[in-house]
Amino acid sequence: MVTIEINGQKVEAEQGSMIIEVADSMGVEIPRFCYHKKLSVAANCRMCLVEVEGQRKPLPACATPIADGMVIKTESGYAKDAQKSVMEFLLINHPLDCPICDQGGECELQDVALECGKDVSRFTERKRAVEDKDIGPLIETEMTRCIHCTRCVRFGREVAGIREMGAVGRGEHTEISTFIEKSVESEVSGNIIDLCPVGALTAKPSRYQARAWEMIQYDSIAPHDCIGTNLHVHTRRNEIIRLAPKENEMTNEVWLSDRDRYSYESLTKAKRLLQPMSRQGSEWQEIDWEAALEKTASKLNMIKEAHGPEQIAGIGNPIATTEELYLLQKIVRGLGSDNVDHRLRIADFAGQDYESLYPQLGIQISHLESLDSCFLIGSNMRKEQPLAALRIRKATRHGLVASLSAHKNFNNFKLKHELVKSGQDWCLQLAAITKYLSQQPQNEEALVKFDGLQDLLVDVTVEQEHIDIAQMLVDGTNSSVILGLEAVEHSQASKLRQLAKAVAKLSGSSYGFLSHGANSAGAYLAGAIPHRGPAGASVSDDGHTMEQIVSNGKKALILLKTELGKDSIWSEKAVAMAKQADFVVALTSFADDEAFEYADIVLPIAGYLESAGSYVNVNGIWQEFNASVTAPGQAKPAWKVLRVLGNLLKLKNFDYVSAQDVMQEVKGRMGAVGDKVKSKWHCPDGLVEAATCPEAVNIYQSDCYVRRAPALQKTAMAQGQEDLKRPQLSPFHNIMGGV
Ligand code: SF4
Ligand code: FES
Repeated sequence: MVTIEINGQKVEAEQGSMIIEVADSMGVEIPRFCYHKKLSVAANCRMCLVEVEGQRKPLPACATPIADGMVIKTESGYAKDAQKSVMEFLLINHPLDCPICDQGGECELQDVALECGKDVSRFTERKRAVEDKDIGPLIETEMTRCIHCTRCVRFGREVAGIREMGAVGRGEHTEISTFIEKSVESEVSGNIIDLCPVGALTAKPSRYQARAWEMIQYDSIAPHDCIGTNLHVHTRRNEIIRLAPKENEMTNEVWLSDRDRYSYESLTKAKRLLQPMSRQGSEWQEIDWEAALEKTASKLNMIKEAHGPEQIAGIGNPIATTEELYLLQKIVRGLGSDNVDHRLRIADFAGQDYESLYPQLGIQISHLESLDSCFLIGSNMRKEQPLAALRIRKATRHGLVASLSAHKNFNNFKLKHELVKSGQDWCLQLAAITKYLSQQPQNEEALVKFDGLQDLLVDVTVEQEHIDIAQMLVDGTNSSVILGLEAVEHSQASKLRQLAKAVAKLSGSSYGFLSHGANSAGAYLAGAIPHRGPAGASVSDDGHTMEQIVSNGKKALILLKTELGKDSIWSEKAVAMAKQADFVVALTSFADDEAFEYADIVLPIAGYLESAGSYVNVNGIWQEFNASVTAPGQAKPAWKVLRVLGNLLKLKNFDYVSAQDVMQEVKGRMGAVGDKVKSKWHCPDGLVEAATCPEAVNIYQSDCYVRRAPALQKTAMAQGQEDLKRPQLSPFHNIMGGV
C-alpha cells in the first residue's frame, strides 16, 4: 500500500493502481472517454489529464500508476486547462446534433462538454463527416459522432473475443468500422452501445423513441439465462423503451447478452393476447375472466371425477417465476395429481432421484473467471449462456479449458484439449477419464464411495487424450467440471451426470451444470417436478415426468408459458398429445401462441417485465423483481390467475395477496426439508448403448419471448447464417486489460 494525496485528501491505495481507480474509489470525478474499468487502458483520448506535483506536464489519470507521496490535483487551474484543451480538440469534428441524438441527455461527451467545453468554437473549418455503416439489426451507427475512444474495439477483442470492430485509416481519416463491412454478429454485441460514450452506437429497435429524461428506470431480472442477469428497464408512459445492464459482480458484471437486451420487443411488438378466449367448435370466442376461470375449474373437476386426478397434468416452463411454478404445482397437487413438470428439453429422467435439490453450478458464477482448469461437457457456452462464456474466456488468461462435444464449437476462448466425439460415445469418454483418475494412488480412499465404479470401468480403454484432460484437472488448484445444455439434454444425461461427478470428485474439482431458462433452480425449489414437492419434499408416488405425460397422454393439461411444439424436445408428439386431451387450458401472453391449435381455453397473462416474482439462479441466489409496466388489455400476472383458479377449485390456502406472499411460503418450506436433498452417486448400469445428443436449440428460438423479438429474429444467428469463417477468436485473447 502507498499513501497519496488527491485534491488535498490523503488516501492509502494499492501500489500499481492507476490514479483514476483511486479517484473513483474516493468519489473524485475525473472526466474520461477511453477508460473503462472492464477494458484495457488505451489512454488515447487524453480527457483524464490531471496535475501531478513535480511533473512538467499533465498526466493521464487512467494510465499513470500511483507512487508513494504522489500529490495529485484534478481540479486545479492547470488540470482544468489541460482538460478544456482536449475537449476543444474533441469538439472540432463532433457534430452539434444533440437535439436529434438518442444519446442526448445521457451522453458522456455532452456532460463533460458542459463542464470543460467553450460556448463558442474557435474553429470555422468544415466538420468532418463519416459515412454510417449498417452493422446489423441491433445497433444503429452515426459514425460522424465517433470520438475514436476505441472502447467498442477493445470490447470485441478483449471481452467478447470476437474481432468485429476495428479502426481503419490514420489521423483525421481514422474511422471505426466492422471488418470488411460486415454486420456485427456476436451474441453480446449490444454492450458496445453502453460502452460508447457518445451517440455513435445506439440501440436500433429503440431509436428515436424517447429522450433519456422522459424515461423511468426499474430493476428486473432477465428470463433467459441461468446466471440471473440483472436488468435496468427503461419505460415511458407504461411502455418499455429499452433494456440496459444493471451492474452485479455476482452475476452479469456490467454486461448484457443481446438475447436479454432485445427480447423485450416481444412484449411491445408481437401480437399480444388481450382477452380470455374459449374454443367453440372450430371458432375462438372472447369471454370474460370469470366465465373463463369457472369453465376451467369445472372442466378440471369433471375430468378428475370421471377419470381420476392422475389424468390431470401441469406443464410449466423454466422462464416462469418461482411463484407461478409453485402455484401451478399446488393446483395440480391440490387436485390429487403429481403430474407436474417444467423439464421440457430433458430426455433422460432415469437418474432424477439422485439429483441435488436444484440444478447447481457447483461454484460461484463470479469464480468461473478464476478457474485454472475447466472441463466443459456438451456445452456450446457462447450460445447457451453468453455471459458465463465471457467469464470462462477471462479464465483462459491464466487457466486451461478442455471440452467434450459432438462437433467443433466456435468458442470465444481457447481450448487446451478438445474431444470431438459422437454423442453416442460421451459416456465412454468420461469413463476413460474416470478410469485414469481411479488408478491414481491418491484416489484409493475416495474410490470407496463410488460403489460399482471399478467393475464398470474394466473394459474401458484409456487414451492419451483422456490422460491429458484428467491431468489438467488434477494439476489445477481451482478446477471445475461443468455440464452444458447438450449434456443435460442428452439421452444418457443421467449416466453423464454420474460419470462427470466421479471425474470431478477424483480430480478434486467442483461439479455442476448450466440449466435451461432463468429459473430451472426456482422450478425445482417450487416443486414443479413430479418426484419431489416444494423445497425437495418427498411425494408418496412419483408423478409422471414430461416424457411420460407426452407418451401416455392426459385428459386435462394446464400449460404455463409453454408452447409444446417449440419449447419441448417432443415437439410434434407433444402437440399431438395435447390435441388428444379432453381439455387444455393455456396461460400465455401472445395472440399467436401455438396453443390455439390444441387448447380449449386460452388465458392472457402478463409478460416477464409486467409481473412481480422471483428467479433463482444456479448459485441459489434468489432475486426478486416488481413489474416495470402493466400488462396490456385484460392480461393479468400468471400468479394471480393461478391464485383465483385455486380459489375456484376450492383448494386450501390459496389466499395470497401478493407474489411476495407466495414466495414467503416457498422460502418458509426451505428450512424444513430443503437441506436434506443431496446429489448421490448411483453407478451407471452400462456404458455402451444407443444414445442421441440433440442439437442445442438456437439461442434466438429458446423461448416464447426471443422467438417473437423482431430485431433478434433478423440477426444472422437467428437465421442460421452466421459467418463461421470470419476471424472468431481475437489474437488478443490473453490480454490482461480490464478487471
Ligand atoms: S463508436 Fe463509440 S465506442 Fe467506438 S470508438 Fe467511436 S466513440 Fe468509441
Ligand atoms: S480516459 Fe485517460 S486517456 Fe482517455
